[in-house]
Amino acid sequence: MRVPVGVKVGAFAVAIMGSYTYFANSIPQIESRPPQELSLEGGSVTPAQLVKAGEEIYTTKGTCEICHRIGQKGTRAPDLAGIGGRAGKTKPGLSAKGYIIDSLLHPGNHVVEGYPNIMPAVDKPPIALNRSELWALTAFLQSLGGTVDVALADIPATAGAGGVGGAAAAAVTLPGDPKAGQAIFAGKGTCIACHKAGALGASPVGPDLSQIARIQTPEYIMKKILDPAGSGTVAGYPKGVMPPMFGQSLTAKEYVDLVAFLLTLK
Ligand code: HEC
Ligand code: HEC
Repeated sequence: MRVPVGVKVGAFAVAIMGSYTYFANSIPQIESRPPQELSLEGGSVTPAQLVKAGEEIYTTKGTCEICHRIGQKGTRAPDLAGIGGRAGKTKPGLSAKGYIIDSLLHPGNHVVEGYPNIMPAVDKPPIALNRSELWALTAFLQSLGGTVDVALADIPATAGAGGVGGAAAAAVTLPGDPKAGQAIFAGKGTCIACHKAGALGASPVGPDLSQIARIQTPEYIMKKILDPAGSGTVAGYPKGVMPPMFGQSLTAKEYVDLVAFLLTLK
């Protein structure tokens, strides 16, 4: 059964849009306090409002733009232009919204050919979108070449249960010392020869790591250093260039300090 998105523009929805703008403006303070969350449950919003909220999530809290572009190929993730139309033809028996929602919650279920399976589940930390945000985001993606028919009920009730609380709970407090890790990055680790990290370095050989902790899990970052090939190769970059020897050349303390430094890159 399809639940049509309400068409009544309530004061509620307007208030939501306002608080969302507030959230967008408060991004730089994300670390000091939990981000404002978009909550649309129980409210009535028009598809146009949903799409607009979804677009904002795409560029801000979702961090999608760090990996994806719309209408531009050659980045580390697929071009999302036309995804709303294409999504319905990807897997037989799966609707467009079904494919999009599954791509967001279980990226490993549909790995696009030519790309590594490195997209994080967006309802889990570090991105940790809630159900309303997933709903709006799905509407936005459907609007790219397709028809917006996603209802809140289409988003699994368990999705985003981690939310902000989950992000806080999962915020790994590693024993490492980020300052010492920064010195490893620029010195013994030689990372700086290939990577930029904030104000450090400028090499374009490997991906810019300036925001790596906003888009990737600590597990991925830790594994990538020890076994670069094991996580696949970031699209647009050469295979086998990142050295596989760090597990041997760094001490355990140096490794933990280095990871602690990388986790400050947001
Ligand atoms: C760390 C980089 C990264 C981030 C952040 C990221 N993605 Fe992805 N995404 C990928 C990669 C790589 C793929 C291709 C591999 C795959 O299918 O899992 C992909 C695949 C997808 C697909 C399937 C595309 C297709 O053509 O079938 C969708 C939809 C998608 N991402 C949406 C999003 C949205 C929306 C966000 C933000 C909430 C996001 N992604 C965040 C890397 C990322
Ligand atoms: C000789 C060049 C080189 C050196 C040195 C190097 N890397 Fe890399 N790194 C790369 C390349 C190229 C990629 C992208 C291709 C791939 O995925 O293997 C990459 C990918 C990564 C990624 C994944 C980025 C993403 O967006 O998913 C991380 C994290 C990373 N490197 C961390 C490090 C750290 C930490 C060091 C230092 C201990 C280091 N690298 C040293 C070349 C290098």
